[in-house]
Amino acid sequence: MTLHHTKHHQTYVNALNAAEAAYAKATTPKERIALQAALKFNGGGHINHSLFWKNMAPSANGGKGHGGVLKDGPLKKAIVEAFGSLENLQKEFNTTTAAIQGSGWGWLGLNPTTKRLEIVTTANQDPLLSHVPIIGVDIWEHAFYLQYLNVKADYLNAIWNVINFEEAEQRFIEGTGGAKL
Ligand SMILES: [Fe+2]
Repeated sequence: MTLHHTKHHQTYVNALNAAEAAYAKATTPKERIALQAALKFNGGGHINHSLFWKNMAPSANGGKGHGGVLKDGPLKKAIVEAFGSLENLQKEFNTTTAAIQGSGWGWLGLNPTTKRLEIVTTANQDPLLSHVPIIGVDIWEHAFYLQYLNVKADYLNAIWNVINFEEAEQRFIEGTGGAKL
C-alpha cells in the first residue's frame, strides 16, 4: 500500500497536474479536446485513490484500529435492507468485482434516486458518477500483486478486514442527505 500510494497514486497526480497545465495553456478547442482523455484518466485516478485511502483503517483483528467493524447504525441498516446481511454484500461484491475484465474499480454506491445501496463497477480509472460512492475498492492488479500475486479473490477477501465502515457511514449519511460526493 505504501508503494501503491507513493508511486501509483503519485503518477496520476503528476500526470493530472501536467494535463491541467497544458489545458490552461491550450488556445484552441481542438487542443482542449485532445486533453480530455488524460484529464479523465488521471483525474479519475486521483479521485478514486483519494477515496480508497480513506476507505481503509487498520484492522480491528490486529487490535490497532476499527477496520472491518460495521457497527449498528444507518449504514448497517441500509446494507441489511439491500443485501440481507454484510456477509451477503461481501459475497456479491467480491463475485462482481472479481469478474471485472482488465482494470477497474468495485463500488458500494448509493443510488441517488432510490436511496438504496447497490454494487457497481467502473472500468479503468473512471470515477463513479451514477451513484454516490460509499466504499471503493481498487481492482487494478497493482493493488494486490505484491502480496497476493495473481489471486484476486484472496485480496478481495482480505480487503474487508480493513474497510473503514465509520468513514463509509459518514459518506452514506451525507449521500442520503443529498450531498454530491
Ligand atoms: Fe491503484
